[in-house]
Amino acid sequence: MSILIGGGSGFVGGELSKLLVKNGLKVILVSRSAGSNKITWKDLEKNGLPKDCSGVVSMAGENILNPFKRWNEDFKSEVRSSRIDTTKALAQAIMEAENKPKVFVSMSGVAYHKPDDIKEYTEESSGGDYDFLSRLTTEWEAAAKLPNSCNVRQIVVRTGVVLGRNGGMIKQIYLPFYMGAGGKIGSGLQWFPWIHVSDVAGIFAYAIQNENVNGVLNAVAPNPVTNSQFTSSFAGAMWRPSIFPTPGFMMNALFGAERGKVILEGQKVLPKRTLEYGYKFKYPDIDSACKEIVC
Ligand SMILES: NC(=O)c1ccc[n+]([C@@H]2O[C@H](COP(=O)([O-])OP(=O)(O)OC[C@H]3O[C@@H](n4cnc5c(N)ncnc54)[C@H](OP(=O)(O)O)[C@@H]3O)[C@@H](O)[C@H]2O)c1
Repeated sequence: MSILIGGGSGFVGGELSKLLVKNGLKVILVSRSAGSNKITWKDLEKNGLPKDCSGVVSMAGENILNPFKRWNEDFKSEVRSSRIDTTKALAQAIMEAENKPKVFVSMSGVAYHKPDDIKEYTEESSGGDYDFLSRLTTEWEAAAKLPNSCNVRQIVVRTGVVLGRNGGMIKQIYLPFYMGAGGKIGSGLQWFPWIHVSDVAGIFAYAIQNENVNGVLNAVAPNPVTNSQFTSSFAGAMWRPSIFPTPGFMMNALFGAERGKVILEGQKVLPKRTLEYGYKFKYPDIDSACKEIVC
């Protein structure tokens, strides 16, 4: 039994692959480059799904917060096609497969919901039509939709900011915090919908391996915090102060206002369905997550 992961070579995919292998499954990646235990997107288009493929995961995507890329129309189009075209290619391969996999799990993001200081969002809340990123998640989720006649279990995982030692946001902020130069970003009062990378991998694996799981799952920790609670917990885990705020205008200058929003504004998102299905978080609170990351 093997699981095919589009975009599985990155931060989250690496953690998921390790977990699936530990659970006794074989993992094959779909990548832009060839290699062992990998096929390329061209191979997928030409040859379809590999034999004995029992599950498919879609998580390819150009890093939105890449500080080396200017937020312009070309980059936005890359951000979009790296998610939509790859997800469509996987969905197409599933539709064409003679022996269908049992499950298709696709990545999405909590940017689906409009940032708000008061509202609480669950998987059942409406959204997906607010700004570029929110509409991108709608399109991403639509690209993963298979006709019911395929008879493949489908799950969409709306993921918050992924925290872990080996990638994502922590990689960018580790050094300034380690040097004692970290602090809240913007007002610090904005919600920070976070999750530890072990739990994102855990939720994907749970969705793959539990036949009763269906539909949208929020991959966010059950104890939401604000940006300032996160930064003081992270600095505290390092025994450092968190007294140097990063003003909002600096984030806007670095990332552009449209994506600076990802950090300067936030949503309070709860993993209602994820918990109802019985998933047990390894890192439910920010202090335990930050301690694991810096230890
Ligand atoms: N990290 C977070 O905080 C977070 C939060 C919410 C959602 N997500 C989403 O979760 C997914 C995985 O995140 P991650 O942190 O693991 O990302 P990552 O480390 O950047 O890995 C993403 C993978 O996507 C593939 N990829 C990158 N750019 C691509 C492009 N232009 N065209 C096709 N494929 C491309 C790459 O695989 P190859 O080089 O092998 O082709 C890469 O390994 C992404 O779609 C991301 O948007 C991440």
